[in-house]
Amino acid sequence: MARLVIVSNRVASPKERGAKAGGLAVALREALNKRGGLWFGWSGETQVDPPSEPKVFRSGKVTYALQTLDPEDQRAHYAGYANGTLWPLCHYRLGLLNFRRTDWEGYRRVNATFARALMPLLKPDDIVWVHDYHFIPLASELRALGFEGRIGYFHHIPFPTPEVFLTLPSHAALVRDLSRYDLVGLQTEHDVRALLTYVSSEARGWIAPGGVVGLRDRRFRIATYPIGIDADAFVHDAEAAAGSEEEERLKASLAGRALAVGVDRLDYSKGLPNKFAAFGELLKSHPERRSTVTMMQVAPLSRSEVTEYQALRRELEELAGAINGEYAEFDWVPLRYLNRPFQRATLAAIYRTARLGVVTPLRDGMNLVAKEYVAAQNPEDPGVLVLSRFAGAADELSGSVIVNPYDVEGMADALNSALSMTLGERKDRWRANMEKVTRNTIHRWCETFITDLSGVDGYGAGVEPARSLPAPKKATRGRN
Ligand code: ADP
Ligand code: F6P
Repeated sequence: MARLVIVSNRVASPKERGAKAGGLAVALREALNKRGGLWFGWSGETQVDPPSEPKVFRSGKVTYALQTLDPEDQRAHYAGYANGTLWPLCHYRLGLLNFRRTDWEGYRRVNATFARALMPLLKPDDIVWVHDYHFIPLASELRALGFEGRIGYFHHIPFPTPEVFLTLPSHAALVRDLSRYDLVGLQTEHDVRALLTYVSSEARGWIAPGGVVGLRDRRFRIATYPIGIDADAFVHDAEAAAGSEEEERLKASLAGRALAVGVDRLDYSKGLPNKFAAFGELLKSHPERRSTVTMMQVAPLSRSEVTEYQALRRELEELAGAINGEYAEFDWVPLRYLNRPFQRATLAAIYRTARLGVVTPLRDGMNLVAKEYVAAQNPEDPGVLVLSRFAGAADELSGSVIVNPYDVEGMADALNSALSMTLGERKDRWRANMEKVTRNTIHRWCETFITDLSGVDGYGAGVEPARSLPAPKKATRGRN
């Protein structure tokens, strides 16, 4: 079996066994623990004149190689181009997009640094799987250094439609970079359509059935791989949480009231101000709900070095204060707002206790919290998932109450009707969602991507006109 090499900016080091916010690190840890291999990424440290070689160590079946970066390069790469340019772009927030040439140059420099550090560790038959928008140019850099083995890329966040993508000055260079991979994976059919439309209408590439794409001298494949969770582990944690001291404490604190829960990194893509406003609107327009429902929003701080995230934090503190100031009673605080991470077992207990899971991002690649909430429910008394139509998870989780997060009053009504749902309806909706969560797991996501990547011929296959291509293999993954 070929060795799996995973590249991601954030690496869940074996020393941090506990709480970890961020879908990518959570997902990849599950994948690598099972199969073993090499995990290459940023060490989380910066240093002027950093060593050119990564720190390498082993833990269980996984070898870690962690690269330290120059502070200015790291800033330009992470806070600058990745999270100041690509993140707002891919989440359709053009008003928040900053494009600076120095950030773009720093982004490329970091990709070149990573490629130089990784190259000596690679064997020709390795399968290299690169994750997320921090590393779109990595394959170009590895190819330039002579690596001809299989490289795949998975984009964990949405891929914007061409009208949005074209606002990025470096759009053509990024798509050329994508073409240096053998397989490009996206979360949803919508994302795949967006990229294919760009390829055919803007980049003058050709598209054959099965997502095989020809662009200049390259042929590669673009396909959908919806990410999932370790459903069994979540079910296990949630069952273990039943009757635990933490669950009892939480229930006691609710004093018989229903709990609505949100768990999101403190990120403007997650739609938190609109969620708070919708909860405030529920209390305003349905006064009978006052003192009967408590909302808990867990929002660990994220990317605090980026100005827009600092502004969001202030905005949420103000909104939470305003809602509590307006509606709190001496024995009831309507909105509990927590900026801290939790262990998975605690999250499972919170999800299981909550009558509503409220996942209402303005845009999200997939959203694993939605799937975790479903997996954690008690089958005999499940809660209801209120889910944004703009989360990738909405494609699969049709048993949810689907909402438009821009429609605050509509969301308030949806919260109200979800709170009134009969046990029979809650069970039916939960069963439909749970079937998807247990079918498309993290293990299946990994296996199908790796199987499809293993099946490609390798770099240098060259470009052929669409009509002479062999019929593409059927995708190995199951779709809902
Ligand atoms: P994103 O990747 O944008 O952060 P996802 O919903 O896909 O969003 O993934 C978030 C992951 O981080 C989930 O696995 C979730 O359990 C975890 N997480 C989020 N908030 C917390 C928290 N406060 N404590 C621990 N884990 C968290
Ligand atoms: O899933 C999107 C993502 O950007 C991941 O790449 C990342 O691990 C997660 O969100 C958390 O973000 P960050 O690594 O910037 O803290």
